[in-house]
Amino acid sequence: MKGIILAGGSATRLYPLSKSISKQMMPVYDKPMIYYPLSTLMLAGIREVLIISTPRDLPMFQQLLGEGEELGMHFEYLVQHVPNGLAQAFVLGERFIGNHSVCLILGDNIFYGQGFSRMLREAQSHTDDAACVFGYGVKDPSAYGVVAFDETGKVLSIEEKPLKPKSHFAVPGLYFYDATVVARAKALQPSARGEYEITDLNRTYLDEGKLNVTLFGRGFAWLDTGNCDSLLEASNFVATIQKRQGFYVSCIEEIAWRNGWIDDLQLEKSGKAMEKTEYGCYLLSLLNK
Ligand code: DAU
Repeated sequence: MKGIILAGGSATRLYPLSKSISKQMMPVYDKPMIYYPLSTLMLAGIREVLIISTPRDLPMFQQLLGEGEELGMHFEYLVQHVPNGLAQAFVLGERFIGNHSVCLILGDNIFYGQGFSRMLREAQSHTDDAACVFGYGVKDPSAYGVVAFDETGKVLSIEEKPLKPKSHFAVPGLYFYDATVVARAKALQPSARGEYEITDLNRTYLDEGKLNVTLFGRGFAWLDTGNCDSLLEASNFVATIQKRQGFYVSCIEEIAWRNGWIDDLQLEKSGKAMEKTEYGCYLLSLLNK
């Protein structure tokens, strides 16, 4: 399976912060935001990742992440000239995807919780000629894609930002698809707001009875980073967990090492390059545990 991180858009809700810097490059406590979605793909065991961003911001991501060899991964990069919808990721990524199944994650989505790796692996097993998305209970679902079920748990509908949501289950920005996703994305028409909607793409699977939905429980964290308050809250969340447990959240070098994608020597090299920071010291400490 291949992975795509969509990290474009203009993030006007974060102005003036995002006037000259990509939102997905902003710090969430001690790391750039994009580390969090990248770590999710890594936990899913995905080693080949396409990063899509704006013409302005893409070079910065290339500088930050390179070709991925320090993580035992392979990164490719593509420009999205106009932010005309999430589903465009599959049209732009056609060559990269080829005939593989693919996972899309939005560059501003942060997930954290026990059993997450297992859920990700399970989601992948549901992408044989199908799609798998998630549901997460939120207080105000009208700001998201919303999925509704009947009493037996069968998916009834999926709607984008409905004024009257049929359930309180928002659909987070993490989607697993089979290789037919490219053709489906190409066939979409723009919505009333002029975007190629991921929800319309998901509906093509639902209409064929091929949309699997996995629910996150209330003990799981899915965090937003859309405005200054949610960005601060996400930073505080990460800081709280890391200081309490001593384990880092979304430390990409650690995950690569635990996945067996890099050896002790590479981890030491990465740690030493940052040894003036707690982050670097954490990497080095892993070798002594
Ligand atoms: O976060 C989950 C939600 O993401 C889903 O529940 C919705 O169904 C889905 O449409 C999306 O809603 P948003 O309102 O968050 O979408 P937004 O337009 O803000 O884009 C999400 C991120 O993707 C944002 O960081 C910018 C980036 N983006 C967006 C578009 C439209 C791109 O990189 N390219 C794009 O063309």
